[in-house]
Amino acid sequence: MSIVSRDWLNTLPKVELHLHLEGSLEPELMFELAKRNHIELPFETVEQLRCAYEFNNLQDFLDIYYQGANVLQVEQDFYDLVWAYLIKCQQQNVVHVEPFFDPQTHTDRGVSFETVISGISRALKDGEAQLGISSKLIMCFLRHLSEEEAFVTLKQAEPYLDQIIAVGLDSSEQGHPPEKFSQVFARARELGLLTVAHAGEEGPAEYVRTAIDDLQVARVDHGVRSIEDPELMEHLVESKIPLTVCPLSNTKLRVFDEMSQHNILDMLEQGVCVTVNSDDPAYFGGYMTENFVALAQGLEMSKEQAKQLVLNSIDASFANDARKQAMRALLG
Ligand code: ADE
Ligand code: ZN
Repeated sequence: MSIVSRDWLNTLPKVELHLHLEGSLEPELMFELAKRNHIELPFETVEQLRCAYEFNNLQDFLDIYYQGANVLQVEQDFYDLVWAYLIKCQQQNVVHVEPFFDPQTHTDRGVSFETVISGISRALKDGEAQLGISSKLIMCFLRHLSEEEAFVTLKQAEPYLDQIIAVGLDSSEQGHPPEKFSQVFARARELGLLTVAHAGEEGPAEYVRTAIDDLQVARVDHGVRSIEDPELMEHLVESKIPLTVCPLSNTKLRVFDEMSQHNILDMLEQGVCVTVNSDDPAYFGGYMTENFVALAQGLEMSKEQAKQLVLNSIDASFANDARKQAMRALLG
């Protein structure tokens, strides 16, 4: 069977539903912002920094990811971060994005919520007007912190709810089950927000269940360990609850040792609404196109499967029906 080409995959219209804006901070921009803000980095060069991107698990990565985010200080820094990501999207024909941001990573070191969301929203607005990339923004709570702290963040977000479509849950999964955040997610739903949560990345299939039952999520982020629970798999197929899967992230963080072992296409064939996403592309070796290429090379993904994965992302997105129809039309 011939391997689907990079060119074809790059041209394929795509939709990204699982992307941490802080995880799109490329080393070059990190150095530029460090210089602009007079911050000392513990690395001398971009090459040295890139060499540090070897991870054995999620926590290894998170330690370096939170350190990198320290260079983001003022509104323009957040704008530049998001704009650089959107330019990448344009180059790879990503037509709609639903990125995450982690306000607590910034507010905990004295950067105001307003600074963060203003820079992000301004760039997303320009991305729609100038690049034709539509977007919906998702605010994540850090699950290694308390529910009380998540409530403080939700309160800070209240004046900006017109700029936020949903709340999510990220950071260290093991030992921080979804139900730890049941009450703050209930309050977010009362405020009219949708909900998503990382679950079943490193944590067990049980966390996927409680994300669905207790947090009432519209999508599960990662969810690859759902395959260990046949009843849960049946529920995912029947309910059509989508999984936002991140292939390169999973091999970089050793969820799977090799791409050839990844279960995304097995789940697709079993009827689960799985989608392809890049998670933290600056750290994991690639954006959307590279993730699709990795599936073509590691799992012999066909063109039909690639198109179905994009159709799943359109169905799973929080875009309105007219925008969804327009995106389906792009696929031909
Ligand atoms: N924050 C950024 N990337 C993450 C991931 N893959 N899992 C959990 N938290 C994250
Ligand atoms: Zn993630």
